Amino acid sequence: MIVLGVESSCDETGLALYDTQHGLLSHALHSQVAMHEEYGGVVPELASRDHIRRAIPLLTQTLAGAGKTLDDIDAIAYTQGPGLAGALLVGSSVACSLGLALDKPVLGVHHLEGHLLSPLLASEPPEFPFIALLVSGGHTQLMRVDGVGQYTLLGETLDDAAGEAFDKSAKLLGLGYPGGPAISRLAEFGDPLAYKLPRPMMHTKDFNFSFSGLKTAVLTVVKNHEEKVVANICDQDKANIARGFVDAIVEVLTAKCVSALKHTGLKRLVIAGGVGANAQLRASLNAAAAKKKFKVYYPELEFCTDNGAMIAFAGARRLMINPDAAKKDYSFNV
Ligand code: KG4
Ligand code: ZN
Repeated sequence: MIVLGVESSCDETGLALYDTQHGLLSHALHSQVAMHEEYGGVVPELASRDHIRRAIPLLTQTLAGAGKTLDDIDAIAYTQGPGLAGALLVGSSVACSLGLALDKPVLGVHHLEGHLLSPLLASEPPEFPFIALLVSGGHTQLMRVDGVGQYTLLGETLDDAAGEAFDKSAKLLGLGYPGGPAISRLAEFGDPLAYKLPRPMMHTKDFNFSFSGLKTAVLTVVKNHEEKVVANICDQDKANIARGFVDAIVEVLTAKCVSALKHTGLKRLVIAGGVGANAQLRASLNAAAAKKKFKVYYPELEFCTDNGAMIAFAGARRLMINPDAAKKDYSFNV
């Protein structure tokens, strides 16, 4: 069975073909980062319009990449949510229109399930059960995963998501959008001892997070700085603040993962979502894994952030369990 995946929840248009026998056949992605950069964040109206422009060319590219035609598609999976309403509507209309025209069933996929299962696309995928840390721009959750569709939420952020904290702190330091990669790169040059920022909720016994205070701590450091305007803070000091922020957030994320593994007795940890691309987080988790004797799995870098492959894959895995999960009902709802 060949499943077409369509992702359009935010600022990436992703299309992919996943074959339940042969794996991922091809995928194509367009990132709108350059378009939103000058506004310092995603402009929803622009995002929707760009998804419309990109969807069909990316579909053509995906089919060509796999040497397939529209007739080879058996089912279509699309991101149903969460995400920007207008952006989601584009992906769902594309999926439902194709389904109607080709007389093929469609299936709405939860965006976070796409992220959660994305590490299973890797060449050495983890076996179930595992603990998953889902760290994206909109979510930070720790989950126990016993199988496809068998997810138990252990804890989540009470306020900002980890990616949001990265983006907002980067903005406070005058770095571009998206801020995660930028603040992470700058932190490499920072002195770890210059600014010791708070580690929110690190020692609470639950698996919840809170990152808005950390972002406020960055703001306070900037405000109390001798140079009151961030543009005047010297590059080294900006790197020091970035380092203080990254060290704090990475330490909290690592500590909570370790404690979730200990609590459940599981030995496999899976990282998913955009922040999973972060080099410092990966280094910290790898060090903890070596010390505490657990195994950590990451998606391929290209599948950490939003993409169509994870939606095609999640849809295919759902259909393998229940072939009736996709329906010829084209009255989409997002
Ligand atoms: O999963 P994703 O692509 O989209 C959502 O579903 O939200 O995650 C986007 C988030 C953004 O906040 C971005 O700054 C962050 O992931 N991100 C990173 C890195 N790459 C992306 N954060 C830290 N370090 C990175 N290398
Ligand atoms: Zn996402």
